Amino acid sequence: MNFSSEFETRFADMLTHYPTKRSVLVPTLLYAQDEVGFLSDEVIREIATRLELTELDVRNVISYYSMLTTKPRGKYNVQVCTNIACMLRGGEELYAHCRKKLGIGHKGTTPDGVFTLEEVECIGACSWAPAVQVNYDFHENLTVEKLDKVLEGYRK
Ligand code: FES
Repeated sequence: MNFSSEFETRFADMLTHYPTKRSVLVPTLLYAQDEVGFLSDEVIREIATRLELTELDVRNVISYYSMLTTKPRGKYNVQVCTNIACMLRGGEELYAHCRKKLGIGHKGTTPDGVFTLEEVECIGACSWAPAVQVNYDFHENLTVEKLDKVLEGYRK
């Protein structure tokens, strides 16, 4: 399978920085997912071969990280944290609001393919709870009103 030259450059560079091939698995999966949109069977096979791992090794890692997916997602992946710090500061209300506003549930994608919604565990922004991550961007100290503006910004 062919990746972009940018991917190949990053991949080759990463191999020189880590002691074992296995060590580059997670960043390689992230780069591949950014490029392809999701981790298809073909992508998993290719990465397993390159890193001398089994496909099961690769799938086990994918299943551990909520940011990795084997299924196509919307353009923006909205991850709403409902873990303890966020829950105490309105995270569950934010998640309920997203479900209603977007008309989808956990891991659902809007019919226009713009948003996928996920309820997630702690995303490491507890000090600024409640927090939501959209792709690689963090949005913190949210209220329902602030979150509406965030989502509208992405829709534009
Ligand atoms: S509990 Fe939500 S970011 Fe940590």
